[in-house]
Amino acid sequence: GDSELERRFQAKIDADEKIEPKDWMPEGYRKTLVRQISQHAHSEVVGMLPEGNWITRAPSLRRKAALLAKIQDEAGHGLYLYSACETLNVSRQELVDQLLEGKAKYSSIFNYPSTTWADIGAIGWLVDGAAIMNQVPLQRCSYGPYSRAMIRICKEESFHQRQGYEIMLTLARGTAAQKRMAQDALNRWWWPSLMMFGPNDKDSPHSAQSMRWKIKRVSNDELRQKFVDVTVPQADFLGLTMPDPALRWNAGSGHYDFGEIDWEEFKQVLQGNGPCNRERMRDRNRAHERGRWVREAALAHAEKRRARAAA
Ligand code: ACO
Repeated sequence: GDSELERRFQAKIDADEKIEPKDWMPEGYRKTLVRQISQHAHSEVVGMLPEGNWITRAPSLRRKAALLAKIQDEAGHGLYLYSACETLNVSRQELVDQLLEGKAKYSSIFNYPSTTWADIGAIGWLVDGAAIMNQVPLQRCSYGPYSRAMIRICKEESFHQRQGYEIMLTLARGTAAQKRMAQDALNRWWWPSLMMFGPNDKDSPHSAQSMRWKIKRVSNDELRQKFVDVTVPQADFLGLTMPDPALRWNAGSGHYDFGEIDWEEFKQVLQGNGPCNRERMRDRNRAHERGRWVREAALAHAEKRRARAAA
């Protein structure tokens, strides 16, 4: 019966074997993956919006080309992830509809505004830096299609992180006004970046089961701590100050201690009340409408070819 199937399934996971689309899996495992992978895909897609805001105003041709390439990569990441999700018996249409109707979650971070060019630097450095920290262990996720998608995505994210850090370095070594702009961006993006890792482990409803299933390999708090530990020295190198008076090196633990996250702000953003939630949903819906003719043309073309091949 099912309990014997479940026992064999868990044994496979414990032996670090991958689960593939046609393998038997518990319904809870399938649902958890659909939830996480689709939220991840939506994040990639919505994540294009705050950066898209700066394509026309990038300060040089080189910066513009790099930004365009990065945003296209994110569209690609969304597509691999929707495809990985489709192997779990859910249609892309259904997932996209959930996003457009405001029923699906996407990362809290993309509900903050990108008001200056330095924000493009801070997003690459911090947001993509946090994304890599979270995604590297997902390359070892127990579900084959998700783990393989992550390998390519991580390579591209590391280019994104470097382009962001390089923008920050240029600004931090520039005029006093440029350095102030970089510091201001760090002040605004630091705490929201820490929130990307999700609630504290003790408040994370999905963590324990996802760890047993090896969907998650490292916990929210451990990843957040690793991110703080690698990022603080990078801020020091830039000559910028972290906006956290409680931040200090703890020689005993070998980690940086840091202040309490404003979980009320996190909750508000998840409930749709962040600074840009409404704007993001409006823009995403508008972009989807504007792309309708392309989807219709592609479908009509595919239909014609099918008819011609059948004739
Ligand atoms: N923004 C929005 N929602 C979040 C966030 C966040 N930063 N962190 C946690 N949540 C949500 C979870 O999705 C979950 O909601 P749900 O029950 O309605 O689905 C709820 O808060 C509880 O959190 P957890 O129990 O910790 O949930 P989970 O085990 O899924 O862990 C995490 C959250 C770490 C984000 C996990 O889903 C994950 O690793 N996802 C893949 C990576 C990803 O999505 N990255 C997107 C941003 S990076 C980028 O796009 C460039």
